[in-house]
Amino acid sequence: MSSKRFLLCITGASGAIYGVRLLRALKKEGHEVHLIVTKWGEKTLGYELGMTRADLAKEVDKVYDEDDMAASPSSGSFHLDAMVVVPCTMKTLAGIAHGYADNLVVRAADCSLKERRRLVLVPRETPLNLIHIRNMAAVTEAGATIIPASPAFWHKPKTVDDLVDSIVDRIMTHLDARKQTSIEWIGD
Ligand SMILES: Cc1cc2nc3c(=O)[nH]c(=O)nc-3n(C[C@H](O)[C@H](O)[C@H](O)COP(=O)(O)O)c2cc1C
Repeated sequence: MSSKRFLLCITGASGAIYGVRLLRALKKEGHEVHLIVTKWGEKTLGYELGMTRADLAKEVDKVYDEDDMAASPSSGSFHLDAMVVVPCTMKTLAGIAHGYADNLVVRAADCSLKERRRLVLVPRETPLNLIHIRNMAAVTEAGATIIPASPAFWHKPKTVDDLVDSIVDRIMTHLDARKQTSIEWIGD
């Protein structure tokens, strides 16, 4: 598969590990990865994994500040093969659902939708209130794909990484970042 350019955004929901393992899976496939970590995304990275944005910056091709509205992803003219927000907070979901582009993540998502490009959002929140559900419906109607961070168990995961990778694998498929799904159910 030829190299593609992805925008990966890590926001301040629990589940920073999903973003980090997706980043590594995309790089392993030889793709170009551009990264935005929100202020609260950096906090959860620290709380959950003991990592900083600077640590991740070493592993990607380009990093943007969430407040830099003049950065390339702020324009629909900047080529991206797809964008993914993982994990995606209910706040960022709400911003995308309502076109309230007050940071670079929401503006880039707004551009992805208007340019009819792939946009994948990976919420972790549970339980969901009606506002969350309505916002998920709105972004789905606008063309985004919601992949809840709900790992499968049929592949008999033994470690946390195995669990996380069942979601990372689904995201890779939806981003068209891999030729074939690696965790595949083969029926009886
Ligand atoms: C440890 C921690 C875990 C959080 N987990 C979630 C979560 O799972 N889902 C969510 O929507 N917000 C969660 N939040 C709240 C968000 O970080 C907060 O709404 C923040 O304003 C989101 O900003 P952002 O979307 O720009 O990153 C969490 C906050 C902290 C400190």
